[in-house]
Amino acid sequence: MTGTDKKTILVIHGPNLNMLGKREPEIYGKQTLDQINNRLKTEADALGFNIKTFQSNYEGAIVEQIQAAFQENYSAVIINPAAYTHTSVAIKDALLLLSIPVIEVHLSNIYKREAFRHHSMVSSAVAGQITGFGSHGYLMALNALKNMI
Ligand code: DQA
Repeated sequence: MTGTDKKTILVIHGPNLNMLGKREPEIYGKQTLDQINNRLKTEADALGFNIKTFQSNYEGAIVEQIQAAFQENYSAVIINPAAYTHTSVAIKDALLLLSIPVIEVHLSNIYKREAFRHHSMVSSAVAGQITGFGSHGYLMALNALKNMI
């Protein structure tokens, strides 16, 4: 397979995930976002995918990145919308634009935490959700996509 044939997966990290490693490590783990993204790149290489990673603390920037995925040639999206999971109609509506598979990932098990985290606004707009497996959840999402794209 040549580089140009490779499928590209867009990985979107929402607000405060740039603070991973420092932020409540007992909940989110000790790995930094760079370490998670590097591990994702290694796994994507092994599976024959390209990945592009994106992080923003701004809802509108995430919406615009999803709109870009609609215009550009991505094969799938992996998204952890972080706190916007529970509030964002705008991110859900943007995801509904896409006809490619979208996988929602959460580091923590959102159903084991405070009641306000039990509802995901975006889950009805995605193919599936992986929650509670720490950073391994992103690798699980990549492996799931192997059979989907
Ligand atoms: C999170 C769970 C959300 O409730 C929280 O606001 C986050 C991270 C997770 O990955 O476990 O920022 O999406």
